[in-house]
Amino acid sequence: MDRDNSNGERAAMYSANRLKLGLFGANCSSGRAVTLVPERWSGDWADCLRLAQMADAAGIEFMLPIGRWKGYGGDTDYQGATFETVTWACGLLARTKRLTVFGTVHAPLIAPLIAAKEFVTADHIGEGRFGLNIVCGWNEGEFEMFGAALRDHETRYEYAQEWLDVIKLAWSAPEDFDFAGRFITVKGGRAKPKPYGGTRPLIMNAGASASGQAFAIRNCDALFSNISNGISFDETAGHVKNVRALARQGGRDIGVYTVGVVTCRPTAREAQEYYRHCIVDNADWRAVDSILAMKNITPETRAPDEFQRLRNHQANGMGGLPLIGDPDMVAQELAQLAAAGLTGIAVSFVNYLDELPYFCAEVLPRLARLGLRAKPDGGG
Ligand SMILES: Cc1cc2nc3c(=O)[nH]c(=O)nc-3n(C[C@H](O)[C@H](O)[C@H](O)COP(=O)(O)O)c2cc1C
Repeated sequence: MDRDNSNGERAAMYSANRLKLGLFGANCSSGRAVTLVPERWSGDWADCLRLAQMADAAGIEFMLPIGRWKGYGGDTDYQGATFETVTWACGLLARTKRLTVFGTVHAPLIAPLIAAKEFVTADHIGEGRFGLNIVCGWNEGEFEMFGAALRDHETRYEYAQEWLDVIKLAWSAPEDFDFAGRFITVKGGRAKPKPYGGTRPLIMNAGASASGQAFAIRNCDALFSNISNGISFDETAGHVKNVRALARQGGRDIGVYTVGVVTCRPTAREAQEYYRHCIVDNADWRAVDSILAMKNITPETRAPDEFQRLRNHQANGMGGLPLIGDPDMVAQELAQLAAAGLTGIAVSFVNYLDELPYFCAEVLPRLARLGLRAKPDGGG
């Protein structure tokens, strides 16, 4: 048994669908939409569970939560109420059948042997459907809450490498093990049981920097890359090809995914109007500005036009690729992403539960007709 590889049979994330679909950010209040509209996402447990069961029945491959500890303020305290992601995943895995559910975990904030055992527990609950999204952190205010210092950017990924090495060791070592790293020491480590079914959970990372991407290429089954900042089809295709080639050089295979924000309505005009209503006329601009300020994007550091462009971009699903239109348009845009070589996309909606049924009824059959997915009732 090769415990170093995740098992191609074990989870919906390995469906035969050419374009995999996931839901991003449902564990947080307001999800990914920085908006005041009253129908914005509650993020409460009953809604998360209903959403997961709806997605499971529709053959959606995965749910990806956000590791967020502190809200962004503004009029809505954007993402102020959040569920811890591994325990959230455990609850959803227990009540679904096919869906892969990720935990999004800040490597520096949890001891690796505790984390390894939590992931194993989640993986057994889900019978092999737990996935791990490793994040290194970027938000200093959050780290201060834990009394933890954010390491410099390069060192963050060096730490994450050791952290993941220890976790993989705990998942695979048949006997007691030691580890002596620069940051982490383990003496007489012991970890049982191993992950479900003799393999290991899927691992993903969303590094954007050179070191972040290299980390994913070395270690992960999936890299999530934001491709929304005016990046062309050719650039996206080039990026995917490059990442895959680098992984192959290391003897590995990696999927490349992106993040999108869906506003799908019967007509393009209705979709545009709803988008404008939520994201332009009723954005929570105070929250948007506070998020941007954390990234040092302010009216003082940017020209007025550029600042406004970045504000709009952030309000719309925190910078995900906007997919706005009627079902034909949304399906065509998704087909373009698949044509560029992307493995899949994690999407968000203003209100996931209200909007997912229409997406599943209208967009999924179109994707099936385009040969990108099995028929919606075909079991994914
Ligand atoms: C799909 C996606 C999900 C992410 N999830 C989180 C998250 O939940 N928590 C977090 O602190 N950072 C998250 N990030 C930020 C990344 O982990 C990463 O820090 C960021 O893309 C910058 O890349 P770099 O670390 O290589 O500079 C996410 C990014 C993307 C694109």
